[in-house]
Amino acid sequence: MSCKKLGPRTKGLLVLLLIAVVAIAVTVLAVLLTRPTTKSSTTSSSINSSSAPTTTGVTSIATTTTTTPGTTSTVTTTVTESTVWRNTGSMNNGRFSHTASVLPNGKVLVIGGEYDVDFDLNTTELYDPSTETWSTTDSMNNARFLHTASILTNGKVLVTGGQNGHSAINSAELYDQSTGTWTATNNMNNARQWHTASILNNGNVLVTGGQIGFSAINSAELYNPSTETWTVTDSMYMGRYRHTASVLTNGKVLVTGGLADEYLFFYGAILYDPSTGNWTMADGMRHARERHTASVLPNGKVLVTGGWNGSIAHNTVELYEPSTDIWRTTGSMNIGRFSHTASVLPNGKVLVTGGQNGHSAKNSTELYDPSTETWQMISNMNYARESHSASVLKNGNVFVAGGLDRIGLNTSELYESSQINQQ
Ligand SMILES: *[C@@H]1O[C@H](CO)[C@@H](O)[C@H](O)[C@H]1NC(C)=O
Ligand SMILES: *[C@@H]1O[C@H](CO)[C@@H](O)[C@H](O)[C@H]1NC(C)=O
Ligand SMILES: *[C@@H]1O[C@H](CO)[C@@H](O)[C@H](O)[C@H]1NC(C)=O
Ligand SMILES: *[C@@H]1O[C@H](CO)[C@@H](O)[C@H](O)[C@H]1NC(C)=O
Ligand SMILES: *[C@@H]1O[C@H](CO)[C@@H](O)[C@H](O)[C@H]1NC(C)=O
Ligand SMILES: *[C@@H]1O[C@H](CO)[C@@H](O)[C@H](O)[C@H]1NC(C)=O
Repeated sequence: MSCKKLGPRTKGLLVLLLIAVVAIAVTVLAVLLTRPTTKSSTTSSSINSSSAPTTTGVTSIATTTTTTPGTTSTVTTTVTESTVWRNTGSMNNGRFSHTASVLPNGKVLVIGGEYDVDFDLNTTELYDPSTETWSTTDSMNNARFLHTASILTNGKVLVTGGQNGHSAINSAELYDQSTGTWTATNNMNNARQWHTASILNNGNVLVTGGQIGFSAINSAELYNPSTETWTVTDSMYMGRYRHTASVLTNGKVLVTGGLADEYLFFYGAILYDPSTGNWTMADGMRHARERHTASVLPNGKVLVTGGWNGSIAHNTVELYEPSTDIWRTTGSMNIGRFSHTASVLPNGKVLVTGGQNGHSAKNSTELYDPSTETWQMISNMNYARESHSASVLKNGNVFVAGGLDRIGLNTSELYESSQINQQ
């Protein structure tokens, strides 16, 4: 179309229109570019409250607008969580205070634990998600509960310490998924239970604190998988047990909360730097807690949930920001709990299951959405459990096994979540 054929009045209007369009485009671009990131997302969630609690589903629709110079694309992701818990068979042994590790081959190795007071287990069992069946595998050399289990970079599982009979032990063992056998590896320098074990970025394992007899341990030691040896590293400022340890995206290890003795509950958090081998003080949490959980979110922040403070089971939740070394409170859970589990799902949400409040085990579960910082109750598990295990399977489902509800439980159940992405 040629402008020469148009009258001066129409021409003027067209120019004005053009200016207006350019102005709007510039404003939109400016708004998009001045946002903290080039990604903006809105998330809406709805819970179908008209259906029975056991068949409740959560559907969240996230719209992500990505702006790069010249192009704007919008992706709508509809995530439908089927939040029904489905029973998936029984172990040969009921157990609690055990561990569960997702092996490189996708199977879940459940290790040790306690069935009843004074009845601890050396047995280990395998759950195969593809057939949804349990089978027994080799037994450990030592029965143990309140131990740790870590998947090494070579694929083996390292088990450390724990309680055997009435005492903490220093023994460590390795499970090899290719042979299905346990072998002893070198003992730790200290016997310990209720301690932590973290895989550092260099593949070594940092073991911290724990309890021996009635005392909290301040020592920390490093396991080198290639030499199978233990080396003592810098000690923590004070002994602590029932604490958490999380490997941050910057490689440091954040230790939070726990107990110094039966009556001294920690607010404090400390940081271990593998490059210097030393501990430093970190910002303290807003609440003292033990038997809480700590999860590293995909954005690098650490989400701490629940725990016991000596008089209450917390429903409070706190977020740690590693870049500023600051804790702040975020949305509280609907139910206070300790000895529960928290699992980071592939979509970044955190699923909390079970636990207890000082009186009884819980069957309730709830989901944290980091984008809204809110919790939603979802359907109850088929069994109340505390001191159980929860594992995120390779397909994203969450697998819960064992736990305590008056006796050690042999049941297991599955939370299935499915995602549908739409362009
Ligand atoms: C909620 O559940 C009811 C009954 O099962 C069903 O008829 C309805 O379509 C559901 N609504 C949504 C939004 O899923
Ligand atoms: C699981 O435990 C229940 C209750 O203690 C028991 O009745 C059942 O036989 C056990 N199942 C297996 C497979 O051992
Ligand atoms: C495991 O413990 C049982 C007793 O509960 C014992 O009979 C068995 O020999 C132990 N197995 C190993 C490998 O130590
Ligand atoms: C750092 O840790 C080592 C032990 O690994 C210790 O000998 C040294 O005193 C520590 N340094 C500081 C400043 O704490
Ligand atoms: C535990 O929490 C309750 C409620 O917030 C508080 O009153 C109490 O002082 C706390 N106890 C400790 C030891 O922090
Ligand atoms: C969950 O526990 C509550 C009470 O603690 C009970 O009323 C409810 O029936 C339980 N639900 C399931 C699915 O077991």
